[in-house]
Amino acid sequence: MTELLPDVVKPNLDPLKILKGQKALVTGANSGIGEAIALALGAAGADVVVNYVANHDEALKVCDTIKKSGSQAIAIEADVSKEDQVLSMFQQMYKAFGTIDILVNNAGVQRDAPLEKMTLEQWNTVIGINLTGQFLCAREAVKEFKKRGVKKEVSCAAGKIICMSSVHQVIPWAGHVNYASSKGGIHMLMQSIAQEVAPHRIRVNAIGPGAIQTPINKSAWATPEAYASLMTLVPYNRIGEPIDIARCAVWLSSDYADYITGTTIFIDGGMTLFPGFATGG
Ligand code: NAI
Ligand code: BGC
Repeated sequence: MTELLPDVVKPNLDPLKILKGQKALVTGANSGIGEAIALALGAAGADVVVNYVANHDEALKVCDTIKKSGSQAIAIEADVSKEDQVLSMFQQMYKAFGTIDILVNNAGVQRDAPLEKMTLEQWNTVIGINLTGQFLCAREAVKEFKKRGVKKEVSCAAGKIICMSSVHQVIPWAGHVNYASSKGGIHMLMQSIAQEVAPHRIRVNAIGPGAIQTPINKSAWATPEAYASLMTLVPYNRIGEPIDIARCAVWLSSDYADYITGTTIFIDGGMTLFPGFATGG
């Protein structure tokens, strides 16, 4: 078969360091899911830019842990919703690492309020960081992926983008219309970019986490009552941990996942299985 596909590149499938030689940028990488992904990409052999917008010390700690695993890491401050700061971050990355192979668009926030009480500022902040931020970073990454093309010894793809979405890409969320709209937007942003850049061997996918224990949703797990209420929405009956997401991000970034593009992988303990219908309907 391979003779029919002369341009298929031999995949890099070293099981221990499947991302060896790759350069990754993870936004919002000094907390929660982003931090776990940055550490896991580093452990898999990638050199990592740890983007942060506040809490420089935590970003440095993440870098130190990555370096101990044998990869390089640098912390770069940038607000992903600000075009000039995103452009500067990519330039700093190219100066340090030369290029980018993996972008993990992870930074995200919630600013919750019932619709009539939601301010324009709350709306704009969430759309600006969660959606516009992903657009700005994806645009810069794609420019570099296309300019550089496939480097066979690094990966069989010219570049990979992972967009951090949410189960709220498909589950409506009263009291969070800004957040749910941003995640619904990420779905079409991801698929439209994936369609546009696939001929350049660039893969674009999303991860849709369910409830993962991080600072963003502390009120949903911090007390036994809140945790019990949350579990009524999770058939697998445990909260997710950042590492549950990080393992998938490593695999999706690797050549094991070559041929996967335009897909959202939900990692949610069954939250999208309409658990209310387990006994009714
Ligand atoms: P987190 O609050 O621990 O992390 C959010 C990160 O984004 C932080 O590092 C924060 O500093 C960064 N950030 C915020 N504004 C930024 C900006 N303007 N520029 C750059 N970075 C910025 O929360 P978590 O849970 O780790 O969230 C990460 C992503 O996962 C978000 O996109 C969130 O929507 C998504 N997610 C989280 C779920 C959960 O249950 N924890 C479930 C589904 C999606
Ligand atoms: C939200 C969390 C929430 C989870 C499940 C995520 O997108 O950021 O606050 O716990 O979805 O509802």
